Amino acid sequence: MRLTVLGGGGFRVPLVYRALLADRGKGRVTHVTLHDLDASRISAIQRVLRELAEGVPDAPEVHATTDLTEAVCGADFIFSAIRIGGLEGRAIDERVALDEGVPGQETVGAGGIAYGLRTVPAARELAQRIAEAAPEAWVINFTNPAGMVTEAMSHFLGDRVIGICDSPIALGRRAAGALGVDPATVWLDYAGLNHLGWLRGLRVKGRDVLPDLLRDDDALGSFEEGRLFGVDWLRTLGCIPNEYLHYYYFTREAVAAARAARQTRGSVLIEQQRRFYTHTGGSALATWESVRLEREATYMAENREASGIGERAPGDLESGGYEQVALALMRAIALDERTTLVLNVRGHGAIGCLDPGAVVEVPCFVDANGARPISVDPLPGHALGLVSAVKEVEQAVIEAAATGSRAAALRAFAIHPLVDSVAVAGRLLDRYERALPQLGYLRGRN
Ligand code: G6P
Ligand code: MN
Repeated sequence: MRLTVLGGGGFRVPLVYRALLADRGKGRVTHVTLHDLDASRISAIQRVLRELAEGVPDAPEVHATTDLTEAVCGADFIFSAIRIGGLEGRAIDERVALDEGVPGQETVGAGGIAYGLRTVPAARELAQRIAEAAPEAWVINFTNPAGMVTEAMSHFLGDRVIGICDSPIALGRRAAGALGVDPATVWLDYAGLNHLGWLRGLRVKGRDVLPDLLRDDDALGSFEEGRLFGVDWLRTLGCIPNEYLHYYYFTREAVAAARAARQTRGSVLIEQQRRFYTHTGGSALATWESVRLEREATYMAENREASGIGERAPGDLESGGYEQVALALMRAIALDERTTLVLNVRGHGAIGCLDPGAVVEVPCFVDANGARPISVDPLPGHALGLVSAVKEVEQAVIEAAATGSRAAALRAFAIHPLVDSVAVAGRLLDRYERALPQLGYLRGRN
């Protein structure tokens, strides 16, 4: 099986390759093509892959290219993990929002809109090229903001593009672990949009054990989301939100903590990753692993700071999330190994208030036909309200990217529940346009 990774010089590519090396099953990936615009980033990653493959018999062959058509032709699966504007762009997304006093995470609030406005035009272009050059390939989108980008690509690729995120499965794993239940045996009743979903049930052999968890102070206090949101709020909600909902439920605290920090997440990652990409001599794998651990240890540091919950649990520093979801998805499709996974796909009515083409994050039934959303119980009213509002924002960004309409871009900022004034929305767009050359395509002064 042939796998192509777009954004092949990206920092997390070794995670994927390590998962491929561990896969000894039939129909496994034998050829990996890395595509990136920056050949030096691919070389740095290839050094890590070579070390990972040492001593592994029949390790997947790795081939690198900067030619997109060559990269996608003949691929069975294409992972899209690109970062338009690099981490420098991310740092601007975050800083501009924080300067206006609103959240600016790379997928949430104003930062997510800016990142989307930069990324969706490129994602559309990629999807078009893939539809022409590799119409049989399955595309697995990792690129954030993952829900919005997957929906934009689905306009060209239909249900052959599937978005993935590890946060629902990581939440399920932690919640099950807190009750001493084997995560492999639970059914996750999880629904929403990417980074905007809720775990409403945790079923073990048909019995929902989430109410047991919500009753148990010690169990709730033993894992990340339990500590982040606090026992009282979780009991009030009656479910467990995705960690990114911290920006919605504790907006002031999250903004204050991010503003108090010396650097934004993007600029922290620039420094961390510079150590890896400029590294010479010695083991590239060892440098990569130490930078990766540092990234994991500092993940969502300001949100944890805002909630006063201290360090991450050691088990959360081990990856195994997102590359495992990707591998499971790929195997299920390629080998018709039927399974269910929480994925980002067109909802086709799974969440009632949204149009059928809107991409949602819900449990899906996966087999050789792809991923089909499973219809889920309705979301509670306030969750439905947030989901509809944020979906409108995502669709306004996609419209702006497709038409160049500056008015649509402004609407995206103005209607976002985390942007508290239309005047702020106007200033955000002005500032992002000045700071980000990739937004030069927006036309019209409203
Ligand atoms: C989680 C999120 C991803 C995100 C990743 C890294 O896995 O679900 O969407 O890309 O964390 O976040 P970071 O802040 O380290 O870039
Ligand atoms: Mn994610």
